[in-house]
Amino acid sequence: MTELNDISWLKKWNIQKISKSLGTPFYLYNQDKIIENYNLLTEGLHSKINVFYAAKANPNPEILRCIKMLTPHIEVSSLGEFRLSRKAGYQAANIIVNGPGKSKNEIDIYLQEEIGYINAESIEEIKLISVLADKHNWDGKLGIRINPDFNIHDTVLTTGGIPSKFGIDLNHIDNIDELLRIKIKMLHVHVGSRSLDGDEISIFYMKILEVYLSLKTNLLPNLEILDLGGGFGIPIRDGELPLDVKKIISTLNNLVQYDEIDQLFIEPGRFIIGNAGICISKILYIKESKGETFAIIDAGTNTFARNSLVRDQHKIISLSELHNTNRDISVDHVVGPLCTSFDWHQLNKPIRCSSDDYMIIYSTGAYGLTAAQSLFMMRPIAPELLINGDDISVINNEFDPTIIYDNKLITDFPRTDLMDIKYY
Ligand SMILES: Cc1ncc(COP(=O)(O)O)c(C=O)c1O
Repeated sequence: MTELNDISWLKKWNIQKISKSLGTPFYLYNQDKIIENYNLLTEGLHSKINVFYAAKANPNPEILRCIKMLTPHIEVSSLGEFRLSRKAGYQAANIIVNGPGKSKNEIDIYLQEEIGYINAESIEEIKLISVLADKHNWDGKLGIRINPDFNIHDTVLTTGGIPSKFGIDLNHIDNIDELLRIKIKMLHVHVGSRSLDGDEISIFYMKILEVYLSLKTNLLPNLEILDLGGGFGIPIRDGELPLDVKKIISTLNNLVQYDEIDQLFIEPGRFIIGNAGICISKILYIKESKGETFAIIDAGTNTFARNSLVRDQHKIISLSELHNTNRDISVDHVVGPLCTSFDWHQLNKPIRCSSDDYMIIYSTGAYGLTAAQSLFMMRPIAPELLINGDDISVINNEFDPTIIYDNKLITDFPRTDLMDIKYY
């Protein structure tokens, strides 16, 4: 069962000792939990269904390698993720690329490197991919992402069923030239993130099935793959119930009974890695202001941004709460160290702690460090650690972001040259 409160695996590790040698804040991931999550999502899944890990959830190369032991398939959304995936050992033929703004240069490289699947998100992009595919004699599968006329309500970030930069509206598909339509082999949909309602997801999938069958009959005769994207939610705060995964597996298995579907893909990210990670941060100061108490911790939105920027509230507890040790102070707010007011993690929700305590932010394995504002205020980028049974290893060292301004490009391409050119 994916349970919110299950960070008991953390108890055996001496956080004080780790933070003394490594510093804080840091991310800690648990390989056993990743495997458990993957197994939960795939147990009993039909063999026609392939799981593509969504690299954007956590593209740390060691995480990619770890997930590659579970599935050879991966979904990427940039050349950077593509390159990291290739380095981690994924074959190009097992990679899908998505994203509404792939440049010509990027597409050229994906096709040249024989990527397995590419989903186009606009009619213009289909045309461009088709031209480049001919140039490279590409024999992977071209798909289109659709923006259906319905969606899943219970999502955090809704990307479909509304006016959106993602996907192609269903009523625009007949505007695609017939010669291009016959090249389309895959139908892709992904309408939002962190849905916890298995019934609603299942109903959504059944409606998508109808769309798939109707498009295959009427407009896209060569459809063979249905790619249902990701979005499977995990609880991140008290009161949220885990997703009914068995219901989803059963619905997916029903879909592949249709002869019109040769293969079915899903692209989970958060479900696999989300609750396998936590962010640990030290309390720097506890201060009182106008009757309210603030814990200023050393992780800001440069380390973890979802609570403040996405307003999706991940639970926070103190280390002393986890260990049930002395916690004589109650703080009202948990805020970061950055010199900006939106740098907060939890407001108006008292937490008990001690003055030299640590704060643990739950379920931050997905969209944690990778979705943080890493360059903001030029503080060090947090290290990442992976626990594997009784072993713990640093899988990314603390990183000094000021290094980007040491970039050779600036010195090799002097500003004076730029200023000589008329750009206006
Ligand atoms: C196209 C696509 N597939 C898969 C995912 C993974 O979503 P999640 O991590 O919620 O499973 C995303 C996330 O934004 C996405 O945009």
